[in-house]
Amino acid sequence: MTESINHFMRRIGVESDLRSLIYHICRAGKYINFTLRAGHTGYSETENASGEEQLKLDVQSDQIIMKELEKSELCALAISEEQELPQRFSAPRGSFTVAFDPLDGSSLFDANLSIGSIFGIWEGDELVGQTGHDMVGAAYIVYGPRVLLVISIKGSGTHELEMNDVGEFVLTRENIEITSTSKYFSPGNLRATISDEKYRKLLNDWTNDGRTLRYSGGMVPDIHHTISKGHGIFMYPPDEKHTSGKLRLAFECMPMGLIVGEAGGAACTHAGQPILDMSVSEIHQRCPILIGSTDDVATAVAAWK
Ligand code: AHG
Repeated sequence: MTESINHFMRRIGVESDLRSLIYHICRAGKYINFTLRAGHTGYSETENASGEEQLKLDVQSDQIIMKELEKSELCALAISEEQELPQRFSAPRGSFTVAFDPLDGSSLFDANLSIGSIFGIWEGDELVGQTGHDMVGAAYIVYGPRVLLVISIKGSGTHELEMNDVGEFVLTRENIEITSTSKYFSPGNLRATISDEKYRKLLNDWTNDGRTLRYSGGMVPDIHHTISKGHGIFMYPPDEKHTSGKLRLAFECMPMGLIVGEAGGAACTHAGQPILDMSVSEIHQRCPILIGSTDDVATAVAAWK
């Protein structure tokens, strides 16, 4: 028998305001999926907060999520990777902060590769000063051959749901577990190996050990590979030019850190600082990340010592 997301969240004891907020995040996922299937590709005439050209799909996905968060009447502060400034909403029914990347990896869409949306949820109406441990929940949606939602409510594990024909998420896997070692590795930012001998040696060692590369260029499907198989490591270290890497602490690293952590995995910087211990000092701040099977993350941190 299939179990709807609402029923599932009630069963695991998610309180009603958070359940209702997640309901709106799911609706946003449904509308983004419709938009993707309609295929409005190409560039918009705008740039995002980092000065990168925006695809029409980035802009549309951002608008869909903002609208749903406002409609929820529960989101006091919404912060998007695509917008320079946060948006404040009157939230008569509650007070949550949601940081999100509306369409991570959107440039892969034309090539028919999987892409995703990522959400981190905090209580209250501030993001700056909050740590990863302060998150009450996190989720990502991967738009691929199937549309999947992976969600963690702090302390309640990591679970996967699949979008059905009418756009509703139903439970497919409960309490996903990541084992401590893996045969897979997903090494981002290979440019760093030009000058970073430690990264180069780590990748050589793992290749010589017979490990298998799994890398699509999208953080959501690449981390979902670990979630799906139950083991793996994804890395995006810094390089000489990008000393904090590329990925964003609040929109990407912290939510993924909670999701992988709730499944028994680990997430830290290449210097070994746990992602969830970090606090947000600037909403668009970037952060290097190693995330996945605990022993493999520890091996990678040791390689950078
Ligand atoms: P964007 O947010 O610009 O779509 O970037 C996607 C991210 C992430 O999904 C992926 O892991 C990483 O960028 C890949 O970076 P490179 O461009 O360095 O390959």
